[in-house]
Formats: sequence, structure tokens, C-alpha cells
Amino acid sequence: MKVQGVMSLDFSISSVLAPMAEITDYPFRAIVRKFSNTLMVSEMISASGVFQRNQKTLFMLDLSPIDQPIGIQLFGHDAFIMASAAEEAEARGALFIDINMGCPVRKIVSDGNGSALMQDISLARKIVSAVCSRVKVPVSVKFRSGWNSENRNAVEFAKAMEGSGASFLTIHGRTRAQFYSGFSDWELIKEVKEGVRIPVIGNGDIHTPMEAVKRKQESGVDGVMIGRAILGCPWLMGQIEAAVIGKEIPKTPSIKEQEQIVLEHLSLMLDYYKYPKGLYLFRKHLCWYVSGKRDAGRFRQEVNSISDVNLLISSIKEFYNKAGINEGI
Ligand SMILES: Cc1cc2nc3c(=O)[nH]c(=O)nc-3n(C[C@H](O)[C@H](O)[C@H](O)COP(=O)(O)O)c2cc1C
Repeated sequence: MKVQGVMSLDFSISSVLAPMAEITDYPFRAIVRKFSNTLMVSEMISASGVFQRNQKTLFMLDLSPIDQPIGIQLFGHDAFIMASAAEEAEARGALFIDINMGCPVRKIVSDGNGSALMQDISLARKIVSAVCSRVKVPVSVKFRSGWNSENRNAVEFAKAMEGSGASFLTIHGRTRAQFYSGFSDWELIKEVKEGVRIPVIGNGDIHTPMEAVKRKQESGVDGVMIGRAILGCPWLMGQIEAAVIGKEIPKTPSIKEQEQIVLEHLSLMLDYYKYPKGLYLFRKHLCWYVSGKRDAGRFRQEVNSISDVNLLISSIKEFYNKAGINEGI
């Protein structure tokens, strides 16, 4: 379903996979795409790293043709460097450029990046205008409800971003000071939606398909963005997408099917990052995959000390075999 609004985008934003640093990399996105073809946003990528041709940064910018639809998220605070990096991301196939103005992490904001830009609206405007003038693809901005509870300027900020040329916006309803504590303020998200004419994506604390539908309806947003709820259950993205567009919700994969997903994810990690990096980076995903299942605590401890791929595969198979027996499969 396309966005019906003032600004017409030629991709759907009804449900979107959130950018998550060191999580939503190519292997993870490929796994989520097995269940849903929703819009995705890359992990945040340093604009100055792109500008300086840093090899690690450029590696993150490499988009496979099957990794679509996707937008690239950039962070930085220098308008010229941001615009140059956006141009590079567009040339490499980004469907849109998302500008990170929401990251709360100290080492990011202390350099004037991420949510620090919510405190300097004139610089934020300059960055958005500069990026818009250099690329043909739509430019979006992802931000928070404000810097802290005394400075919840999301509505004013959203209007400024719209006025600077942003095609759509994503708001996570927490302040920078909250990091991930408390709750996402969906009342404020609603106010942002009502305050601008461009499409708005609401984000924060959506865990189930029904919550996604409820949040979207109550706030009037054009789309919902899902982050942490997907960790360990990539099929949830397809379930949420179906609910949001009014289709039948697909079943949760069986334990046997989940085992196959886990093994495929491991294989993609090894292809993409190579051994041993791929194996080490996979461990956190494995811990999320088994979360809530019987004996998960012992399994986590065990796999975190396994460095041999074949041994890890055997342990995963054994774990899921037992989990299947316990669930009577
Ligand atoms: C581990 C982690 C990494 C994140 N990295 C990014 C990032 O690179 N860029 C960004 O805009 N937001 C990032 N976020 C924030 C999410 O995109 C999202 O706004 C937040 O998790 C709230 O949504 P949720 O409640 O659905 O998880 C990150 C969140 C987490 C938990």
C-alpha cells in the first residue's frame, strides 16, 4: 500500500524495520526478508567515514541487489560531508537517505551528532537542505521526542525538518535523556503527525501485530517502525506487516523451522563476515533466538565458549531437538 498524503513516495512505509547498530546488518536483513518485504533502514553509518573512504564504513554501504527496499541511515554534523556521503549512498542503491537525529549515545552526541542536533535546529535544517540538494531520492529524518523532559520540541523540530525538504519523518517517542527507559510517548507522536503534512512513521515499544495496528490507528501515523521486538523472532516483521495492511497474519514458524532459520542466519554471518568474526557476531543473535525456551540459560553459557563452527551447529541442533520434544513436535 502506497502512502496517500501530500508527499507521495513510491515505496510503502506502512511497517518498517528499525535501524539498529551492529544488528540490522545484511545477514539479519536477509533473514527478515524471508518473512516480509517491508522497508528497512541500514544501521547508522558515519558520513565522515564514507567521506574519508574508510574501508569498514564503505563495506557497510555495499548493498546487494536483493537487499531492497532499503534506505541508508547516515549520522554526522557537517552539512557538506553529510551531503557527499548521501550522494555515495544514493549511487550504491539507497532508496532513500535517512538522517540520524535521534541517537542518544554519549560518544555520538558529544561530537554534535544524533540527538544533539535536536538542540541545534538551525544546523539540523542546514544538513537536511544540503542533503536534499545533492540527492534525487527522498530524504527522511529520524529523531526523538526531544533532548529531555524540559525540552520536548519534537513538533517544532518536525516542522523545521519538513520545511527544509524532508520527504518523511520517523519519531521515536522518548527523549534523549530517557535513552530506552520509560515509554515511547505516542500522544506526542500523534501531535507530530498532526503538525506536518509529510508522512510520519511512529516508533517505540511495539511488540505484537495487534499493538502495531492499535498504535497506527490511534496516532494516525502513516507507518510503524519496529526494533527490539524483532530480535530473536524475525518472522514477527511479516506478522506485523500483514496486520497493518489488513491481511491474514502468518503463523509463527515451528521449532523445526526456527532451527533452520537459526542455521541459515549463522551461515549468512559466516559468508558475510567470514570466520571467526561471523561466528562471534552471531552469538548475540543466538541468545535472542533461544530466549524463553527451556534450558536457554545453560545453552547460552555453553555456546558463548564455542568457537568451532561444526560444534556450534551440533549444539544448536541438539538444543532445538530437545525444544521440539518438549513442545511435543
Ligand atoms: C541495539 C540498538 C541499536 C540501535 N541503533 C540505532 C541506529 O543505528 N540508528 C537509529 O536511528 N536508531 C537506532 N536504535 C533505535 C531504534 O531504531 C528504535 O528507535 C528504538 O529501539 C525504539 O524502537 P523499539 O521500541 O521498537 O525497539 C537502536 C536501538 C537499539 C536497541
